[in-house]
Amino acid sequence: MAKVELMKDIYWVGAVDWNLRHFHGFSYSIHRGTTYNSYLIVDDKVAIVDCVYQPFAKEMLERIGEVVEPSRIDYIIANHLEPDHSSGIMELLKIAPKAKVFGTARCKQGLEKYYGFTGDFNVVKTGDTLSLGRRTLTFIEAPMIHWPDSMFTYIAEDGLLMPNDAFGQHLATSFRFNDQVDRCALMDEAKKYYANIIWPLSPLVLRKLEEVQRMGIRISMIAPSHGVIWRENPGQIVDLYARWAKGESAKKVLIVYDTMWGSTEKMAKAILEGVRSEGVEAMLFRLPDSYESDIFGELLDARGILLGSSTMNNSMLPTLGKFVVDARGLKPKGKLAAVFGSYGWGGGAAKDLEAVLKDAGCEVVMPSLTVNWAPSAEELKRCSDFGREFAKKV
Ligand code: FEO
Repeated sequence: MAKVELMKDIYWVGAVDWNLRHFHGFSYSIHRGTTYNSYLIVDDKVAIVDCVYQPFAKEMLERIGEVVEPSRIDYIIANHLEPDHSSGIMELLKIAPKAKVFGTARCKQGLEKYYGFTGDFNVVKTGDTLSLGRRTLTFIEAPMIHWPDSMFTYIAEDGLLMPNDAFGQHLATSFRFNDQVDRCALMDEAKKYYANIIWPLSPLVLRKLEEVQRMGIRISMIAPSHGVIWRENPGQIVDLYARWAKGESAKKVLIVYDTMWGSTEKMAKAILEGVRSEGVEAMLFRLPDSYESDIFGELLDARGILLGSSTMNNSMLPTLGKFVVDARGLKPKGKLAAVFGSYGWGGGAAKDLEAVLKDAGCEVVMPSLTVNWAPSAEELKRCSDFGREFAKKV
């Protein structure tokens, strides 16, 4: 795949990782691969904004070579320290050892720790600029969106924002722009990306969006470090980030459960019927068959979540245990929630699930519904009523 010119003398020279299926260890299940985007700017000075993951560095160097000799690069802008973007910097520096690196102070510390970096690093802060000749780069610190070192780079002359991970998607495609790909797939991946990477940092996202708005910068294109470039109506993804960060949600309920011998599953399906009968969208996910990261993507804009588990050893099934701990880390504040499940003796799953949901900031709006051994016809009707009542609250 060749380099792609975004704007005059600005090129995508990144890499497409078609086969990636797990990210951040095994916490994020990827279905459509990803890209590591890197942007080459050819002016009086030659700059590159972000690099690729090290295994793809050769591809990046070849694409740079389609435009200029990689050794001619004067400036490397390190928007973010995480190795999917920074490990390629070290490969590039082998070819262009005199290149000056620009990034935040935290980025410098991280490069030193990760790679033993000792090169020419220039610490920048919000508002600092770097002239390339006809164009000037402006830097905007974006701490905790999503790492402490994170930074955006902006080119006022073109209205081009390169915000690194923000506004990204794990989406491998032979196209580079949002208007060239399937819109449903793109939005699905953008939402899942926000849920799994950005969601816990939503208050900071809102503050950053306000800050950028106050700066009055014109944005004609947003070129993130993963996925496609927002060329057509880039404001749409900014608006979506604002809505997600504010916790805006739809009339949608997720039912997430695991079952030991099918009783909790029968309850889950009866509850779904109850929710559905009130005209509220309901989605059913059994663990561990569904990927957590997919569920979190759906949870982002759902108004409510119902968790179901059989009781085992006086608590929830281990699959639910993992799910609620991971969900708690995303801080899904304000979601309406309730709990259900079957038990043989003693019980305990419902109580523990409720406690974790409350700890995660969810609002448990109904007493839990439990049945002994297997649900009778009467108890299944109660499950359906439970779903209906929850749907009314949603
Ligand atoms: Fe795509 Fe935070 O790295």
